[in-house]
Amino acid sequence: MHTGTEHLTILHDIEFSLPAGESLAIVGASGSGKSTLLALLAGIDTPSHGDVLLDGQSLGALSEDGRASLRGRLAGFVFQSFQLLPDFSALENVMVPLELHGAPHAGERARHWLERVGLGERLGHTPRQLSGGEQQRVALARAFAAEPRILFADEPTGSLDTATGRSIADLMFSLNADAGTTLVLVTHDPALAARCNWQLQIAGGQQRSLHASNPQDGWPT
Ligand SMILES: Nc1ncnc2c1ncn2[C@@H]1O[C@H](COP(=O)(O)OP(=O)(O)O)[C@@H](O)[C@H]1O
Ligand SMILES: [Mg+2]
Repeated sequence: MHTGTEHLTILHDIEFSLPAGESLAIVGASGSGKSTLLALLAGIDTPSHGDVLLDGQSLGALSEDGRASLRGRLAGFVFQSFQLLPDFSALENVMVPLELHGAPHAGERARHWLERVGLGERLGHTPRQLSGGEQQRVALARAFAAEPRILFADEPTGSLDTATGRSIADLMFSLNADAGTTLVLVTHDPALAARCNWQLQIAGGQQRSLHASNPQDGWPT
């Protein structure tokens, strides 16, 4: 990564592939490079060396617009800080991105997904009228409403208490399983990581290990 005149190596020696429909947890200490790696995988940042293939497409071969378009078509995002539009209702937060992508019946679909995450009675509420867990439910509805092939989640339970975090994780894994979405999850919570098929451990920006959560699963070759 280039920051001004300095060249800073943040990530190196990382190589893996994730089969469609499976889930991977990126785990490591704070500052180890998890969020940077997620941004590279999603094509938000570009690596100074190396490449990422998303659904078989080389991100390095695409322009910034090309990557944004691929991301819009394939990827959904959930963040630790929810990232909802503060002046918009729950319904609008889910509906507006669908409308921007020209999806038909955006209002109906947004309502359907908010009901699915248990917020059918809170459609008109803005983020500040919702708890953290409820805001993350809106974010999950927004992500899944776009029917992504791959969901990128950066510490999705990191701002929530243990019980709320667990219910958000339950919901996320359940929506994910129903939709057959590929999941790449950043977390420092070992219990959450263990719910993914695979775990990629990074330390100091370097890949330390890649292993199956269930030892009976071999890494696909
Ligand atoms: N845009 C940037 N410019 C310079 N350094 C950065 C930038 N983004 C992240 N870093 C550095 O890269 C390292 C990894 O950061 P990050 O990926 O956010 O870690 P994590 O998500 O594991 O906590 C940290 O040392 C951080 O300070
Ligand atoms: Mg991070």
